[in-house]
Amino acid sequence: MNRSEALWQRAQAAIAGGVNSPARSFRPMGGDAPLFIKAARGGRFEDVDGRTYVEFLAAFGPNIVGHGHPQVLERVGRQLQDGTLFGAPCPGEVEFAERLAAAIPALEQVRLVSSGTEAVMSAIRLARAATGRDLIVKFDGNYHGHADAVLVNTGSGAATAGGGHDSEGVPGGVRQDVRSLPFNDLAALEALFAAEGSRVAAVLIEPISGNMGVVGPLPGYLEGVSEIAHRHGALVIDDEVIVGFRLRYGIIGPELGLRPDLVCLGKAIGGGLALGAYGGSRDLMRLVAPLGPMFQAGTLAGNPLSVAAGLATLDILAAEDVYPWLDAMGARLADGARRAAASAGVTTSLTRFGSMFTLFFRAAPPKNYLEAQDYDKEAFRRFFWAMLEEGIYLAPSPYEAWFVTLGHTDDDIAQGIAAAERAFARMQQIS
Ligand SMILES: Cc1ncc(COP(=O)(O)O)c(C=O)c1O
Repeated sequence: MNRSEALWQRAQAAIAGGVNSPARSFRPMGGDAPLFIKAARGGRFEDVDGRTYVEFLAAFGPNIVGHGHPQVLERVGRQLQDGTLFGAPCPGEVEFAERLAAAIPALEQVRLVSSGTEAVMSAIRLARAATGRDLIVKFDGNYHGHADAVLVNTGSGAATAGGGHDSEGVPGGVRQDVRSLPFNDLAALEALFAAEGSRVAAVLIEPISGNMGVVGPLPGYLEGVSEIAHRHGALVIDDEVIVGFRLRYGIIGPELGLRPDLVCLGKAIGGGLALGAYGGSRDLMRLVAPLGPMFQAGTLAGNPLSVAAGLATLDILAAEDVYPWLDAMGARLADGARRAAASAGVTTSLTRFGSMFTLFFRAAPPKNYLEAQDYDKEAFRRFFWAMLEEGIYLAPSPYEAWFVTLGHTDDDIAQGIAAAERAFARMQQIS
């Protein structure tokens, strides 16, 4: 038994299902013990058995600057000395909030929280408080964290790792106030608003979905979503927990036609520490306690350590050449993997936005969750294991993206492509 397997035995005894988040489990891949990671640097993991991997997991999105970036280490290290949690305001949170507002016109004011789940959960509450309405509209296969209201036909870990698309334990009363519709289908949204428009508080959307694999909006879709919602007096909540600051310095929804009233951020803004944010116009944010009647709070919210990591991360991401570089690296890796599949005769299709992409094991990229679920499951599983054997760590799910980070080198990308070539070739030999 190696060290990962031994830890897995202990983890299963001490932790529910052996993992602290279902998406980390290798169970959906038909595997037993996941790898336990001891350390990470740049774009690489080292597991407890001393094997190294190039990883395109990026911690499911937060890691954008690469593990152990010197600027993050330096700033977090300094803050560690000065204290990690005060329960009183600190300068860093003001600077961080100002930086977010400067980067995102829709975000005049923010609230910092500790996770994407909290950001979305709070934005929903605020939308309900602002409109006096209860109904939330979301889209099948989008994932917005694990608050009750959004665990209806969800993607990401909920799609593969148990709990099902609709978690048990969510009260019927909560479900009654949520509608989940197919992504990229304006007619379905029109029909819902025609029937129940006056009850809708908000439409909650990932403008580019990252949780049913990477699925982009069809031309005109996000404009249409915004127009329909606003025509009926509903708000638009732009969930950019994955894509915010991943694809550009700021958010991507407005560039693609979305007109958000509230924006949710998480993952990349925290540089690997626990940091999320939600915000919108001053008029809306005025409703949040202590000024207003909508309560939202957090012992760890905007803590000095997380904002130190966040500020260092934003400093790094603000450099001019960052996003073109990430885009070029993403293109190289994605095209290389796709070509490797094609030359081995394995059917795949690709959807990529900058440094995130999904290689779908189906002939055409999906437009919605129904299509995303229709793929060659066995081929994906074999590819996942073959890549792991080749020293490449991918998410153990077809519904997660591959991510490139600033920590990846040319060699890492080349190694990823070469591994894909061998993995696909091997899959063909044994099929
Ligand atoms: C789009 C989106 N929103 C919200 C969340 C929830 O964030 P967290 O896991 O930090 O609670 C996620 C997590 O994957 C996400 O992808």
